[in-house]
Amino acid sequence: MTDQALESRAVCDSQSEMAEIVLPNDANPLSALLGGRLMHWIDLAGAMAAHRHARSYVVTASVDHIDFLVPVRVGDLVILRSSVNRVFHSSMEVGVKVFVENYIADTAKHVASAYLTFVAVDGAGKHLRVAPVVPETDEQRRRYDDAGRRREIRRSELERRRKAAR
Ligand SMILES: CC(C)(COP(=O)(O)OP(=O)(O)OC[C@H]1O[C@@H](n2cnc3c(N)ncnc32)[C@H](O)[C@@H]1OP(=O)(O)O)[C@@H](O)C(=O)NCCC(=O)NCCS
Repeated sequence: MTDQALESRAVCDSQSEMAEIVLPNDANPLSALLGGRLMHWIDLAGAMAAHRHARSYVVTASVDHIDFLVPVRVGDLVILRSSVNRVFHSSMEVGVKVFVENYIADTAKHVASAYLTFVAVDGAGKHLRVAPVVPETDEQRRRYDDAGRRREIRRSELERRRKAAR
């Protein structure tokens, strides 16, 4: 891992938003958005915040479980908001929250949330250290603390799976 002096960056510097209109090609025969398509958008939205924060290439190391809370239909406007919750060494946890907006009724519903871990790499795939992220609001500090707890759960689960595979 390359060691370099890294300047901290605020969460708001890399927060990102992505919008998609659901087209027939994104949907199942009942005109509802495919879960796999939403997962693809979540990965992209998460990577945007990770790239912006790390200012490097990133790869997706893991995605925590995703619940699909409400169906999304063809023609709906899907908004995905992402932010870096916490940086560890070469990895960072990014939270993505997805909403469906009805632009006629001017309403928004929470569709899904996910936590993704991205690892920063150079062009040769070597891991890079990531600049620390500075939470500035109460909400950002809560996410920062929660991300530390989730990392411990991920690590012990990964360890358990590695042992089981031996
Ligand atoms: C993710 C990947 C880079 C990890 O590399 P590795 O050499 O096994 O990882 P290491 O044990 O050295 O850990 C590197 C970092 O990744 C984190 N990490 C590794 N596996 C992880 C997992 N499953 N979930 C969350 N974090 C993980 C480690 O905690 C560590 O973080 P830190 O540096 O902040 O402490 C590697 O497995 C990889 O390249 N996977 C494929 C990624 C990819 O192609 N994604 C697209 C989907 S196809």
